[in-house]
Parts: sequence; structure tokens; C-alpha cells
Amino acid sequence: MNQSLTSFAYLVAAVLFILALRGLSHPTTSRQGNKFGIVGMLIAILATFAHGGMNFGWMLVILLGMAIGGGIGLVAAQKIKMTALPQLVAAFHSLVGLAAVFVAASALNAPQSFGIGTPHHIHLESLIEMSLGLAIGAITFTGSLIAFAKLQALMKGTPITFRGQHQLNAALGILIVVLVVLFVASGGSAILFTLIALTALALGFLLIIPIGGADMPVVVSMLNSYSGWAASGIGFTIGNLALIVTGALVGSSGAILSYIMCKGMNRSIINVIAGGFGSSGDAAVGATNNEGKAVKIGSADDAAFIMKNASKVIVVPGYGMAVAQAQHALREMGDILKEDGVEVKYAIHPVAGRMPGHMNVLLAEASVPYDEVFELEQINNEFSTADVVYVIGANDVTNPAAKSNPASPIFGMPILEVDKAKTVLFVKRSMASGYAGVDNELFFRDNTMMLFGDAKKMTEEIVQALGD
Ligand code: TAP
Repeated sequence: MNQSLTSFAYLVAAVLFILALRGLSHPTTSRQGNKFGIVGMLIAILATFAHGGMNFGWMLVILLGMAIGGGIGLVAAQKIKMTALPQLVAAFHSLVGLAAVFVAASALNAPQSFGIGTPHHIHLESLIEMSLGLAIGAITFTGSLIAFAKLQALMKGTPITFRGQHQLNAALGILIVVLVVLFVASGGSAILFTLIALTALALGFLLIIPIGGADMPVVVSMLNSYSGWAASGIGFTIGNLALIVTGALVGSSGAILSYIMCKGMNRSIINVIAGGFGSSGDAAVGATNNEGKAVKIGSADDAAFIMKNASKVIVVPGYGMAVAQAQHALREMGDILKEDGVEVKYAIHPVAGRMPGHMNVLLAEASVPYDEVFELEQINNEFSTADVVYVIGANDVTNPAAKSNPASPIFGMPILEVDKAKTVLFVKRSMASGYAGVDNELFFRDNTMMLFGDAKKMTEEIVQALGD
């Protein structure tokens, strides 16, 4: 295949990737979006093989690598639980970062194979692109490994902070820039290459350890963006249009998602990039003292009775609904209530669950009508008109400490103001706190009734009681 045909195939793939992103922005079009992405990737791979310049033996090696990687990906995608997706994504990002480091190393080692010069006489622009891809890739690699370890509870999820941390990060950042300049000036010194890699690996580690609790999702999305830019940088080095465009798409869409999430959580995007959120680092600081306060406990029958007599019920799903896989029972409950003339709506917080769109996906899977599902800003002023709010496995996203307690790790995050409703039903198994480790004073309010139990089991019992 000649160069212009290959470029055209890459262009078609890039358009399909853009259509994929567009499709993925809404549950109704997401399957279609995925299909566009698959076809786009297939075209990009075939065009790369057809471009030529590769001998048969190496082609086999690449196919073998693809079979092993694809096989692992297939098994991981089939086995992974919805609740463990964020750590899987973090783990995959670490591989993208590592791949960028490896490609940069091989481009330095054998520049002639990449058409970027000969050893010690590598083109200037290629040296710049290579070192940027290397630095961002190495930061992404260790940063994503730490994110994975925190999300998988292999290490403490709370922020790890120490005096002078920001200064150290800034010094390492400056050191990387200096090393890149020296590396480019040296024409591609292997020692400077190694020093850039080591400094960037350390920076990736240091940037992510101070981040904890509720801020982790933003970091995963930011690392996603970094991995895209690393791939794009390497795409320039090896002169691969598809990699440049795909990397830039991943980089910019990850950055946009991070920005949206920062807005949702009222965080500064600059702080995310710089590492750490200025959080106190201690979830317990945000805890309220609720010892000795009384809690109203109800049963499925009580909940069914209250909901039957309501005219408007708003459902607030959270992580516990995902754990219990309660979305189907929830849809059934909504159907029965609607048949009885009750207005039913679903309120989604931008960071409910453990990944962006987590709740939307689960509700869509259970065929909850899209027009009953509302985002925080669309529904927040409707809680005062609701007779009942059914909070199913959600906690942090309703916690008023986010508004009232500056010492709380979730302070500043907008919340779903469920307490404005006449009655708030909280379905959870215990009085335990949520992801951010902060007590929720709503459990002790007069208009709250706790329904202790597994979200699916409790909802099924309510469905049964509604039918009686
Ligand atoms: P959380 O605040 O984590 O609360 C979930 C609650 O569900 C827990 O308090 C738990 O209480 C309950 N639960 C767990 N399993 C249950 C089950 N089988 N049945 C019934 N209840 C169960 O969840 P949220 O309100 O959705 O807030 C999300 C939190 O996760 C935020 O802090 C957010 O920042 C963070 N986060 C979000 C993301 C994204 S992007 N969405 C990613 C990572 C982290 P019990 O143990 O008492 O049952």
C-alpha cells in the first residue's frame, strides 16, 4: 500500500474514532459508538500491516503480541466486575505509558528503522518528540500503578503527604525539562534518556500518592489523558498518523472528562495536574460526632406503605446499588409505583458509583427510561417537591458535610439535596461511611428512615410489599 493510501486509511480510522467518542457520550448511542471504534481500530491495524516495510518474521512476532495482549484483554473484559472497572482502566493506562517508554527506547536504539536518522544523529524534532513521549509515558506508568494499587486497596487509599511535597514535585518537573534540553542538545545521549525516564517515573509516583478518597476518579481520567498525549508524542517520533490522531483524541477527551469531573466535584483542574488537592489527608477530620444520636429504622413494608401514599418519588442510586446489582429490582419498583400513579424520577450525581456514567449504564441495562433519569443540576431543586427520596446504596453524594464542614475531604463537592424531601429512605447494610470515609449526619435526621439490608434484597421485598 502506498503512503497516500495508508494516510487515507488512517484518516478514515480517525473519523471513526471521533464518531465513536460522539456515540459514547449517550447511553442510547454508546453501542453504535463502540462499533465505530472497533471498525476504526481494525482499519488502522490493517493499514499498518499493508503499508509494507515489514518482513514476514516480524509480522508474525507482532501478530503473536497482539494475540497475547488481545487474549488477556478479552478475558479481563469478560471477568471484570462493574465495580472494579476503575482499577482495570488504571492498570491499562499504565501499559499505555510503558508502551510509550519502550517505543521511545527502541527509536533511540535503532533510529534508522524509524526513519528518524542514525544513532547519535537523530533529527532534532524527533529527539524532542521522543523525550516528551518518554517523560509523559513514564509519569503515566507509575502514576497509573499507584492509582491501581489504591483503587484495588493494595495500599492505603488515604492521601500520603509530607512536608515540601509540592516543592519536590516542582523541582522534579523542572529537572525533567532541563534533562530534556540536555538530551536534545546531546543528540540523544543514552544516559540522559535513562535519567529522564527515572525522574519521570519518580514524579508519576509522587504526583499520585497525595491523592485519595473521593478525588481518585478525576486522577484516573487525568492519567487517561496523559496516556493519550504520551501515545501522540510517540506517534510523531515514529511518523504514524493514526497514533498521533488517536493519542490526541484520547488526550483531549480525557482532559475534557477530567474538567467536567472537577467541575462536578468543585475541584481545581490545576491542582489535579500538579498532584494533590490540598486535602487534609485525614478522612476522620471530616467525621461528625453522631454518637448517642437516635436513628429511625424501617422495614420493606414501611417503605412500601410510604411510597404507595406518595405522589412523587425520586430515586438516588449509588455505589451500593452497583454492588448489589439492584437495578432490575429497582426498575420493577419504579414500574409498580408508576402504575399506581406515582411520579418516579432518578437523580444521578456526576461521581455516584465508581466510574463516570456508572449509574447511567446500570439503569440503562435495566431499561429504565432515559427521560426519567436526570443529572444533578437538572433535578436538585426538585427534591423539595418530592414526598419520598429512595437513596439506594448512595452515601457521599448526599452528605451535607460537603457543604458545611470545611475540614471534610469532600468539602466543596456539590451534593444531591435529598434532605429537602418529606421523607428520605436510605437503603444500606449498616451505618458505615461511604468511599470518602465521612460520617453522614442525614442518617440521624427526623425525616430519614434507614432500611438496613442488601440493596437488591430490600428492593425486591419492597416490590413484593407493593404488590400485596
Ligand atoms: P459511597 O459514598 O461509596 O456509598 C456507598 C454506600 O453503599 C456505602 O455507604 C455502603 O454502606 C452502601 N453499600 C455497599 N454495598 C451495599 C449493598 N450490597 N447493599 C446496600 N448498600 C450497600 O457511594 P456514592 O454515594 O455512590 O458516592 C461515590 C463515592 O465514590 C464518592 O465519594 C466518589 O467521589 C467516589 N468515587 C467515584 C468514582 C466515580 S467516577 N463515580 C470513582 C471512584 C470513587 P454499607 O456498607 O452500610 O452497606
